Amino acid sequence: MHHEHDKKFSVITWGCQMNEHDSEIMRALLENNGYEWTDNLREADLIVLNTCSVRKHAEQKVLGFLGNLKHQKKKRPDILIAVGGCMTQNPEIVRTFQKESPHINILFGTRNFHQLPDLIRKAEQTNSQVVELGSGDEELPGLLPAHHTSPVKAYVTIMYGCDNFCAYCIVPYTRGREKSRPLDEIWEEVENLVKEGYFEVMLLGQNVNSYGKDLPGDTNFAALLRRLDQIPGLARIRYMTSHPRDFSDELIETIANSQKVCEHFHLPLQAGSNNVLKKMNRGYTREQYLRLTEKIREAIPVASITTDLIVGFPGETAADFQQTLELVERVQFDAAYTFMFSPRPGTRAAKMKEQIPPAEKKARLNQLCKTQNQISLARNQKLEGQTWEVLVEGKSKTNPKRWSGRTRTNKIVVFEGEEDLAGKIVEVKIDCAQTWTLFGSLIPN
Ligand code: SAM
Ligand code: SF4
Ligand code: F3S
Repeated sequence: MHHEHDKKFSVITWGCQMNEHDSEIMRALLENNGYEWTDNLREADLIVLNTCSVRKHAEQKVLGFLGNLKHQKKKRPDILIAVGGCMTQNPEIVRTFQKESPHINILFGTRNFHQLPDLIRKAEQTNSQVVELGSGDEELPGLLPAHHTSPVKAYVTIMYGCDNFCAYCIVPYTRGREKSRPLDEIWEEVENLVKEGYFEVMLLGQNVNSYGKDLPGDTNFAALLRRLDQIPGLARIRYMTSHPRDFSDELIETIANSQKVCEHFHLPLQAGSNNVLKKMNRGYTREQYLRLTEKIREAIPVASITTDLIVGFPGETAADFQQTLELVERVQFDAAYTFMFSPRPGTRAAKMKEQIPPAEKKARLNQLCKTQNQISLARNQKLEGQTWEVLVEGKSKTNPKRWSGRTRTNKIVVFEGEEDLAGKIVEVKIDCAQTWTLFGSLIPN
């Protein structure tokens, strides 16, 4: 449906894969409603911002972007600006937007993104801001179209919200209560994706291993994986994120016995000291976490394990931080995403005494990164000389003979190949390892 007079739009996304996928859905819905995508904001008639609140820095980037849009709107008063995502679930931010940002036409919440076409129609008929923030308790929208960014892998939301309330985290306040999509609906969506030619799906939820707790019957995440594992034509199943507390033996066994579920475990540790873990409300001890990673490696020796870590949580002593370093050495993660604690208004940790000074947080972050980078490199170097299955995602922008893809363990592999390999599954021998990337040569078949 491309007409010459189609209005053009763009969606700018901050934050996690959840947000990226919500944006993919909004893009498809707008395209189905006669809008045409553009990468060039200067020609867009509609600009949608899908925002993130996870750290202060994320919010600042959005606010800076909104400031620039204010000037654009002065030059082109007819453009529509819509702002949704996690920032708009904060009543204080919404009040400020309502008072001080009349250039925003539409404010919508994290559970209202699929209503965007209706909200645009409303906004076109009024001069005042259209606000639709929902109650957080609305019915799930069912099957939705999506414009998948990658031609190879597709995101599938399996549950919304989070009930964990980790003391530092804003997500339970922005995404509402946990709600699982029905298993049959997810299965149908994945089957459709395979028919469209996708080899890989990434199942999304803030805490996928509590999938199904709110559904009738005794379905759970392991049952969902077993069901999806049987879909012919699908090659790889990934998921993000699993919580170390709920990672059951049944789930490890299911993954070990499956054909398609990838041997990659992203298990956010956050901190290595039991004091800090307790204050964070994570629900596991360092000993339990270590045991979990051992069980995974016993069941699946090739498994890669990655994590998220926060330094400078309130009250974290030098000794607590040493415990994080020590556990990082013990577990031998393949990679880690490391963050400085950022107090989020409304969370418990923001009110805790003994906030750590920024310079100290920075020093700890540097030390942690240095430790982890050495481990990542050493673990990657062990792969030199081995041959791995790689799903090719695309070619390098600078060298058209250079391809990039991922192993099932989620390692990025770069190699050369003459023919068009996009979307293909190939074998690559690893020649040289770096901290974040493996370089290899294609094995001809
Ligand atoms: N649900 C997932 C989980 O439990 O890991 C993802 C949560 S969040 C989108 C991704 C990561 O951001 C978290 O694992 C945590 O390490 C980090 N994070 C969350 N809140 C933070 C904060 N206030 N300051 C710094 N890092 C934070
Ligand atoms: Fe945030 Fe914890 Fe929920 Fe993850 S599990 S989204 S860190 S509250
Ligand atoms: Fe950000 Fe919201 Fe995701 S706060 S990380 S976009 S759930």
